Amino acid sequence: MKIDILTLFPEMFAPLEHSIVGKAKEKGLLDIQYHNFRENAEKARHVDDEPYGGGQGMLLRAQPIFDTIEKINAKQPRVILLDPAGRTFDQAYAEELAQEEELIFICGHYEGYDERIKTLVTDEISLGDFVLTGGELAAMTIVDATVRLIPDVIGKEASHQDDSFSSGLLEYPQYTRPYEYRGMTVPDVLMSGHHENIRIWRLEQSLRKTLERRPDLLESYQFSKEEEKIFEKIKNETQS
Ligand SMILES: C[S@@+](CC[C@H](N)C(=O)[O-])C[C@H]1O[C@@H](n2cnc3c(N)ncnc32)[C@H](O)[C@@H]1O
Repeated sequence: MKIDILTLFPEMFAPLEHSIVGKAKEKGLLDIQYHNFRENAEKARHVDDEPYGGGQGMLLRAQPIFDTIEKINAKQPRVILLDPAGRTFDQAYAEELAQEEELIFICGHYEGYDERIKTLVTDEISLGDFVLTGGELAAMTIVDATVRLIPDVIGKEASHQDDSFSSGLLEYPQYTRPYEYRGMTVPDVLMSGHHENIRIWRLEQSLRKTLERRPDLLESYQFSKEEEKIFEKIKNETQS
């Protein structure tokens, strides 16, 4: 995957040099280029200006963003504008972006953008209902969540298929050595070596956790016959 990031602060992206995203770059599965659009700004490198009609703060000017995207000369990129008013990012959105060959991110700053920038954009994405100082942290989060879904980036594909949200449910609890730590032990079923019982226990735990913490996820969840049965049992237990 090729990713181009338009930002006034390329140095903020150092975290993407490490861990799984950094390794994906080393393996040649990912190419990330940073474009400081100040370098393409006419008018004494000014990237911002006052809003027409008055008001607080400064807005990013259209010209440096248009010129930078034209220079990137991408074939059919998804062009993503980070914006608190955009569609909220989630795992399904990450899975959608992971199918793309080329992504361009436009990181905002200051009070916002000249609205005409939006004519360049295919997606407006928000990280959630809060306001960041700039789009950089949002872009990094989206890149991280997307890149780990690209085939071969994470060793075993199964390791993200069980992740929270990938299956539509929250992930079940997990344990590692030692068996006993400060008086807390591991559930017997996980020590049994009985793969089918472990699978059913994990499924039940996932359903239980999702019902407790995120019942909204279950509203659109497509239950299998097996899951329906387990879910009925959990609901009966919680009612009694
Ligand atoms: C200070 S914010 C501007 C907020 C803007 N005045 C508003 O009320 O929508 C500067 C930039 O940070 C980024 N940003 C802030 N919050 C964000 C969020 N929740 N999701 C994605 N990007 C965000 C956007 O690129 C935004 O243009």
